[in-house]
Amino acid sequence: MGIVDEDVAKVKAATDFVQIASEHIALRKSGRRWQGLCPFHAEKTPSFSINAEEGLYYCFGCQASGDIIKFVREVDHLDFVEAVERLAARAGIQLRYDDAAEGKDRTRRTRLIEAMEKAVDWYHDRLLSSADAAAARGYLRSRGYDGDVVRRFKIGWAPDDWDALCKALHLPEDVLKDTGLGFMNRRGRQQDSFRARIMFPIFDPSGKPVAFGGRILPGADGPKYKNSPETPIYSKSRTLYALNWAKDDVVRAGEVVVCEGYTDVIGFFGADVPRAVATCGTALAEEHFRTLKNFARRIVLAYDADAAGQAAAERFYEWERRYEVDVAVAALPPGQDPGDVARTDPPALQKAVAEAKPFLAFRVERVLGKAALGAPEGRARAAEAAMAVVAEHPNELVRDQYLMQVADRCRIDPDRLREFLDPTRKRARPAPSGPSTPRPRRSDTPEIEALRLAIHRPEAVADVLVELLFEDDLHRSAFVALASSSTLAEAIERADAAAAELLHRLAVEDTDAEADDVVALLVSAAAQRVLRQLEADARAAPELSPELSPITGWLKLTIEQTREPLTRVEASKGLVAWLVENSQGVA
Ligand code: CTP
Ligand code: MN
Repeated sequence: MGIVDEDVAKVKAATDFVQIASEHIALRKSGRRWQGLCPFHAEKTPSFSINAEEGLYYCFGCQASGDIIKFVREVDHLDFVEAVERLAARAGIQLRYDDAAEGKDRTRRTRLIEAMEKAVDWYHDRLLSSADAAAARGYLRSRGYDGDVVRRFKIGWAPDDWDALCKALHLPEDVLKDTGLGFMNRRGRQQDSFRARIMFPIFDPSGKPVAFGGRILPGADGPKYKNSPETPIYSKSRTLYALNWAKDDVVRAGEVVVCEGYTDVIGFFGADVPRAVATCGTALAEEHFRTLKNFARRIVLAYDADAAGQAAAERFYEWERRYEVDVAVAALPPGQDPGDVARTDPPALQKAVAEAKPFLAFRVERVLGKAALGAPEGRARAAEAAMAVVAEHPNELVRDQYLMQVADRCRIDPDRLREFLDPTRKRARPAPSGPSTPRPRRSDTPEIEALRLAIHRPEAVADVLVELLFEDDLHRSAFVALASSSTLAEAIERADAAAAELLHRLAVEDTDAEADDVVALLVSAAAQRVLRQLEADARAAPELSPELSPITGWLKLTIEQTREPLTRVEASKGLVAWLVENSQGVA
């Protein structure tokens, strides 16, 4: 049973956030906000903030964020309904219940998890004791997995039979389908999804089973792994295999090792590095970063060297910045994955993690390592290739450090190399944040300031802020959510997870910025991007376009005017109008 939406809203409105929070932490008023030590992570200086008017909280240390209901859920470990019930009791509000989403989701999830728990146990027992699992047991033993390993990871065996699990568990049809454990076949009978496979159960961070990865025995036909589909309880792009077992050591060490496979993780645990997790048949995605940053600030990739070299570099840098984590790479022998190394040389795994290099250093090293640095031609080619890698990093100070290294190694004047870092291709980024200095900070870029204004003083910027002024994807989507909503709460609901987090944060930050200043800076940055693009296009064009020079001339002049107090407002408006008009043509 769910609680009707209207009553949830009533409870929120009737609840004094500051009073509730004060029962858990000491709060101090600072400007219009309340601050205190974060109840969700250990800290000595307060980074937890509450915006009482909006009923929102945000922690600058661990990025925890949400409303009063989420706060109560998290501090008291309650589910949604329990949290609302508790607040309602305090406020003297009589709740009405219906069958709406919340309640149904809760019981549905519980039903699915219970079915998964049964399946985990059933597959596991089969592996441990049934005769038809002898080949599987033999194979696992040959890989060095003894009974302890099998029990620790709850490994199982799905028999070579088409409905053994279904017959044993008697699950309702919807549960069977919604867990991905089975399906209805063409004859209308229940059929197992997994057959003749070694089963690696996948748990959520709290230890509830949500999916399986099933490995075929060597020599059998079919894909090596078959994985559970996406289900109401399982999202591949969010889930990390073994996080439930690894999280204690991850938090202790401040570091998590990310591998590609289940057996890699098991190899790390066997090598006494019990802080390894794996993506489940997908690439490491933004949602994974969001999850991991709650546990550790350092992510060590333990991929086979080629896979690590090909990882999506630009997205990683973006996520490093956004989630304030460092990505490093553990160097493994070519062509071997951690599972292989664990079998032959476990100490080498520990060493690889201990000596992991920053992601960019690893990539530059790979380029230079392969190059023929003995000859001038080889050094020139290597320098060019290495600079292409360096250029992807968003932080100018970081780029410059690596540039100096490349210059040294290739014996080329650093100034010549700087030409490879073409400033017209560079994206504007917030204040420098080297991967070696991951700490919470207040970025005061015009984009962030503009978003703060749009939240706290919307009337001051309403008629000049437009989507195309935001270059950063995250900032833009936060702005779009705001612009298309009538309240902050609605915007947060509408925004994707990353943008919602940003909005929470900005909601607890004050701003005393001068709206006209911020707008002028934002507009001139956007206009300069367009101007650079026009000039680059002109250089690339076979002949000079006669229309172009009056336009670039006007842009330059008007950009100049955004810096003068007297002309700033008019110039900004003029540029916005021009940008909106011409966005199709030049964007
Ligand atoms: N994978 C998959 N489907 C496949 C092959 C691989 O989903 N057909 C995923 C699995 O999550 C697997 C990971 O990719 O764990 C890595 O694949 P691979 O390196 O081929 O397997 P290992 O995990 O190393 O397994 P093993 O050690 O048994 O070879
Ligand atoms: Mn592998």
